[in-house]
Amino acid sequence: MPMLGGRGLWLCLAAAAVAVAVMATRLMGWWSPRADFRLFIPEELARYRGRPGDPGLYLALLGRIYDVSSGRKHYGPGAHYSGFAGRDASRAFVTGDYSAAGLVDDVSDLSPSEMLTLQNWLSFYEKNYEFIGRVIGRFYGEDGLPTPELTQVDAMITKGLEANKQELKEKQKFPPCNVEWSSARGSRFWCSQQSGGVIRDWIGVPRKLFKPGAKEPHCVCVRTTGPPSDQTPDNPTHRNRGDLDHPNLGEYTGCPPLAITCSFPL
Ligand code: HEM
Repeated sequence: MPMLGGRGLWLCLAAAAVAVAVMATRLMGWWSPRADFRLFIPEELARYRGRPGDPGLYLALLGRIYDVSSGRKHYGPGAHYSGFAGRDASRAFVTGDYSAAGLVDDVSDLSPSEMLTLQNWLSFYEKNYEFIGRVIGRFYGEDGLPTPELTQVDAMITKGLEANKQELKEKQKFPPCNVEWSSARGSRFWCSQQSGGVIRDWIGVPRKLFKPGAKEPHCVCVRTTGPPSDQTPDNPTHRNRGDLDHPNLGEYTGCPPLAITCSFPL
C-alpha cells in the first residue's frame, strides 16, 4: 500500500475536510449551487414535519419544496394530510393513497391527465405557499438541475395539455346532451343551446357518439345544417347536413332523426 507523506497527506486531509464540510452543509440544507433556492437531501427534508423541535413544516411535490407551516391544520402532526409533510409524496396527490406504500415520489406510470393533476397541485402550492428549494433525488440531481425523469414528466404534462385542447375542440363540435333519468319516466336525452356547458348559436339533435377506444357510446348534440365541421376548404360542396353524416355517429332507435329530444320510457 503506498504511503502518503508530507504534502500528499495534507492534500488528502484537506480533501476529506472539504468533503465533510460539503456533506454537513448539505445535511443542514445550506448548500445550493444557486442563491435563490436551497437543495435538500430527503433525510434533511424528513426533519421538517412540524413536530416539536423540528426546524419547520415543509412538503415536496415533483421535487419542489414548499413551506406549508401556514397550513399546519392540514399537514401538521395528526392532521389529515400529515403524510405529505417532510417528503416528496407526489404519487399520493393523484392516487389519494396515504399509506406508507402510497406516499412516494414514483409517478413514472401515471397518465398524461394524471400528470396534469400534479401540475394543478404545483400551481396551487406556488400560489399559496412559499417555495423553499429542491430535493435531490428523482426529479433533481445533485447539481439542482432537472433529471431526465422530470423532463419526462414535463413531456407528459405537455401531452396532457394537448389532449385537453383536442377534447375541448371535440366538445365544441359534439357538445354532450342533457340527460335525465327517473324511475317513473325512464330516460330522456335532449339538446339545448347550452347542453354540455357549450354555449352556442345552434341546438343540434341527439346522436350516439362512438369514440375510438371507448367501451360505450355517449350522447352528443349534432349540428344539422351547414357544412360538416371537418370539411376541408378545397371541398366546398356539401349537403347542408351539418355533422349528421359523421361516420362515428349513430341514431337512437325509436327517436325521430331530427327530434331535439329523445325519450325512452321504461
Ligand atoms: C386524491 C385525493 C385528494 C388529495 C390528494 C387531497 C389533498 C388535499 C390537500 C393537500 C389539502 C390541503 C390544501 C391546503 O394546503 O390548503 C386538502 C384539503 C381539503 N380536502 Fe382534500 N384531497 C383529496 C381528496 C379529497 C376528498 C375526496 C375530499 C372530500 C370528500 C377532500 C376534502 C378536503 C377538504 C374539505 C379540504 C379543506 C379542509 C380545510 O380547509 O379545513 N379531499 N386536500
